[in-house]
Amino acid sequence: MSRSAHPAGPRHADVLPEGHYVPPPRDLNALAPRVWSRTVTRGADGELTVGGVGVRRLAEEFGTPVYVLDEEDFRARCRAWRAAFGEDADVFYAGKAFLCRAVVRWLHEEGLNLDVCSGGELAVALAAGMPPERIALHGNNKSAAEIEQAVSVGVGRIVLDSFEEIGRVARAAERLGRRQRVQVRATVGVEAHTHEFIATAHEDQKFGLALNGGQAAEAVRRVLKLDSLELVGVHSHIGSQIFDMAGFEVAAHRVVRLLAEVRDEHGVELPEIDLGGGLGIAYTAEDDPREPWEIAEALREIVTRECASASLAVPRLSVEPGRAIVGPTTFTLYEVGTVKPLAGLRTYVSVDGGMSDNIRTALYDAEYSVVLASRSSQAGPMLSRVVGKHCESGDIVVRDAYLPADVAPGDLVAVPATGAYCRAMASNYNHVPRPPVVAVRDGQARVLVRRETEEDLLRLDVG
Ligand code: LLP
Repeated sequence: MSRSAHPAGPRHADVLPEGHYVPPPRDLNALAPRVWSRTVTRGADGELTVGGVGVRRLAEEFGTPVYVLDEEDFRARCRAWRAAFGEDADVFYAGKAFLCRAVVRWLHEEGLNLDVCSGGELAVALAAGMPPERIALHGNNKSAAEIEQAVSVGVGRIVLDSFEEIGRVARAAERLGRRQRVQVRATVGVEAHTHEFIATAHEDQKFGLALNGGQAAEAVRRVLKLDSLELVGVHSHIGSQIFDMAGFEVAAHRVVRLLAEVRDEHGVELPEIDLGGGLGIAYTAEDDPREPWEIAEALREIVTRECASASLAVPRLSVEPGRAIVGPTTFTLYEVGTVKPLAGLRTYVSVDGGMSDNIRTALYDAEYSVVLASRSSQAGPMLSRVVGKHCESGDIVVRDAYLPADVAPGDLVAVPATGAYCRAMASNYNHVPRPPVVAVRDGQARVLVRRETEEDLLRLDVG
């Protein structure tokens, strides 16, 4: 969720809640910096273009709704993260944010590693040729088949999330005659200032082994006794859409303290530390995320300082950004179907998608912005709520936004920053087929993930 988002929970306010009045932007045709991918511009006739391709052509060729992914922007973000962390650190893209074969190839070409958290994500990674040693497997309840597959292909690391899993991975490795590299996922007890559902390091939740009370230390003890496991480090992931580095500071401090305890108890210095993902992006003009180099500098500084005070050699650092790489690369293009003004309140603008292609507004009360994309307009601002076509009043895409007052059926609107956790969390609610993902670059557009059809849905219905 956006930093400016409201607290979680249903809200029935039918006007902008007090204290949350955002005045209309001076220019409704302007594109807020940071919220849009780098090649998005408005052409002379007011049409939005991305990667040199106009949105009207995209809508005609691929239909709406459509996720439009700016390939150059994706690659540039990968390069920025790689360059920021340098050769003595690893950047694992978190595939859960959005994964398809083309993305895996781009990651490979740009020198990133990949974090997967299911057999399905692992299958995509392998199908697209990611070298297994550059893949990490996560998950709080990995199946026997997932563990077996990961060990047999030789993934670079499995992040152990529970005591049960230690034995499961060890037995699979023994059976397959391998020594599996593993990390222990420590729950560091940090409250990330984000929505409860996407905060992951406070202790009262399902992920990881708590530092507090000694679970993580006990996991290390057990792993070190097993010949089929090679313990390479400790992992921490504190949550998502985080702007403040303070949480990482506390996490690094506690993880390094565990490394020092491990050295004191077992005489081994673990060579790796992974601080997870979770870096925030701009969903609206009010959000002000940090650049990768600022994040890298801050994390390196924190880890170096903590290690110096514990007299430890600085371990190899890794991070797992998902949203920060793919989020801003994509916007969703919709066609307006109906416009319903409610005097004194707002205007409901219905589009041809909704909570099936973006569940984040309904689920996390996330904030998004929206612009009229097929043309510019000189009409005045109209307080709008962009809603979908699903049979549910919570089917909201953009809760509060200003659109030009002349917005009309047939117009195209674009919702930016939908690259992360939108297609990845899309559903078939109401038997609505999921939209395609189209990549644009240098005036060309190509389908990466095709639109689902009603036939696809019927094919699963075998009764
Ligand atoms: N590493 C681990 C171990 C994770 O669990 C996650 C996200 C990441 C990295 C990547 O986090 P990112 O940099 O993308 O924030 N569906 C929610 C987000 C759930 C994130 C789950 N884990 C949303 O739409 O906001």
